Amino acid sequence: MGVDFDEVATTTRSVRRRLDLTRPVARGVVEECLRLALHAPNGANRQDWRFLVIDAPELRAGIAEHYRAAFAAYRATLSDEVARSGMTTSAQYLADRFQDVPVLVLGCARGRLTDSASAAKRSSFYGSVYPALWSFMMAARSRGLGTTLTTVHLAREREVAELLGIPFDEVTQVALIPLAHMANDGFHAGPRRALGEVMSWNNWQP
Ligand SMILES: Cc1cc2nc3c(=O)[nH]c(=O)nc-3n(C[C@H](O)[C@H](O)[C@H](O)COP(=O)(O)O)c2cc1C
Repeated sequence: MGVDFDEVATTTRSVRRRLDLTRPVARGVVEECLRLALHAPNGANRQDWRFLVIDAPELRAGIAEHYRAAFAAYRATLSDEVARSGMTTSAQYLADRFQDVPVLVLGCARGRLTDSASAAKRSSFYGSVYPALWSFMMAARSRGLGTTLTTVHLAREREVAELLGIPFDEVTQVALIPLAHMANDGFHAGPRRALGEVMSWNNWQP
C-alpha cells in the first residue's frame, strides 16, 4: 500500500516466473482489490460484470488442463521467432504451473454477443469489464501481489463454463487472472513504444 499511482501504472506488469506458488493468498485481500475494481467505468453503469474467484485446488487443476491445451494450440500458430521469445517461454512457464497458482480470478460479462452485434455494442460489452480488471491488477500490485491478464483459455470457454457451472448462453468469460504473492520484490516498467510513435494531435498520422 502507499505506492505512488504513477509507479503502479508503469510497473503493473505480467508476472509469471516470479509468482510465489507456495504462499496462499488471503481471501480478504482478493475481495479488497475487487471492491476497488468495482469503481471502474462501465456501460450505463449496468455493472453487468461478474467475478468468479477460484481457489479450490481441484477446480484450479481442471482449469489448468484447459489453459495448457489452449496455450499449446496457440503456441503452435506462432512464428519460430515469437515461439522462442522471452515472453512465450515465460507464458509457457505459467501454463505449466497454472494449477499451482493459489487464486484465479475469472472476469465475466452477463450476456453474449450475437454475430450481428454493432461495433458500439461489441466495444461496450468487453469494455465494461476490462477497466475493472485493470483496476484489480493495479490494486493487487500495490499490495505486493502479481497478476497476468490472460485470455488464451477462451478457446475452451465452453468446457471451463461447464467445470465452473457458468451458464454459457447467459454469461461470457472475458479474461482469467492468476494471482499470487510475488516471490521477490522489484517491479520494473516494461518496454513500450515512445508516445510520439502512437499518438498525434488533430490529424491522423499512420
Ligand atoms: C487482452 C490480453 C490478453 C492476454 N492474454 C495472455 C495470455 O493468454 N497468456 C499470457 O501469459 N499473457 C497474456 N497477456 C499478457 C501480455 O502478453 C502482456 O501484457 C504483454 O506482453 C506486455 O507485457 P507486460 O504486461 O509484462 O508489460 C494478455 C494481455 C492482454 C492485454
